Amino acid sequence: VRLSNFLHQIKWFLNYSLKAQNLHGVHSPFVYAFNKQILNATDATFYPFEKIEALRNQLLKSNESVLVTDFGAGSRLNQTQTRKVAKIAKYSLKPQKIAALYFRIIQHYQYQNLLELGTSLGITSAYLASAAPKGNLSTLEGCPNIAQIAHSNFKKLNLFSVEPIVGAFEVTLQNHLASLAKPIDFVLIDGNHRYKPTINYLNQIIPYLSDNACVIIDDIYWSSEMTKAWEEAKKNPTFTVSINLFSVGILFKHAGKIKEDFVLRFPYF
Ligand SMILES: C[S@@+](CC[C@H](N)C(=O)[O-])C[C@H]1O[C@@H](n2cnc3c(N)ncnc32)[C@H](O)[C@@H]1O
Repeated sequence: VRLSNFLHQIKWFLNYSLKAQNLHGVHSPFVYAFNKQILNATDATFYPFEKIEALRNQLLKSNESVLVTDFGAGSRLNQTQTRKVAKIAKYSLKPQKIAALYFRIIQHYQYQNLLELGTSLGITSAYLASAAPKGNLSTLEGCPNIAQIAHSNFKKLNLFSVEPIVGAFEVTLQNHLASLAKPIDFVLIDGNHRYKPTINYLNQIIPYLSDNACVIIDDIYWSSEMTKAWEEAKKNPTFTVSINLFSVGILFKHAGKIKEDFVLRFPYF
């Protein structure tokens, strides 16, 4: 982590901790229910979790290395380098608590058509897909070798409803959206953590969202660029409810009549 990003994260985590509300401070019925039934329902574990976490642990212990085509923030496009799979599993994936939150969101609102930008090893994708066994997940990844590992992980977990799409989002996203038969209910934007690309992906996706869709932007306080992207995304009239959990930002479409913004406490620790 760059020093400037690290300082940005500390500053905003303190700000978040001061502002974050607990259940009692929330007046919106939609957000009150979200807070109680989804956000804080952390005791709820579901049978797929164990299998996915066993696979995550295997990846964390892996001795394999992989030649990575790096599309990420801060690096020039198409740089390649060898990386340990264990390191990717440790540093690039969302922790179980957040992946399980995504699972609960999808299950609660019965979202069926899911999209993820940034598959990586497919661990979070596995949570998304398991939450909608009758639905479908399309997941986009730029690095072919990483996508290959994710693909084999989906097989190991018997997740046959996942459609992995390989290539730069800049190339694959628009074609994918144009090919959709149904609007998208749930989107996770978790790749290329920079201001412009994040806003571009969001703007591309918005016309394809279903009426009650949810869009999650990952790592909104990772850097000042991501915070700028979050501030702008929140203002978009498509979304009536925005919820800041520090680690991620959640946007809901048509969840209420007036536009409301929340900072909610998430039980991270
Ligand atoms: C943070 S990881 C995703 C983690 C995953 N969602 C999880 O929690 O398990 C981001 C991924 O997005 C991919 N990525 C970043 N920018 C991209 C781009 N412009 N096009 C395609 N893939 C990209 C990277 O290769 C990386 O694997």
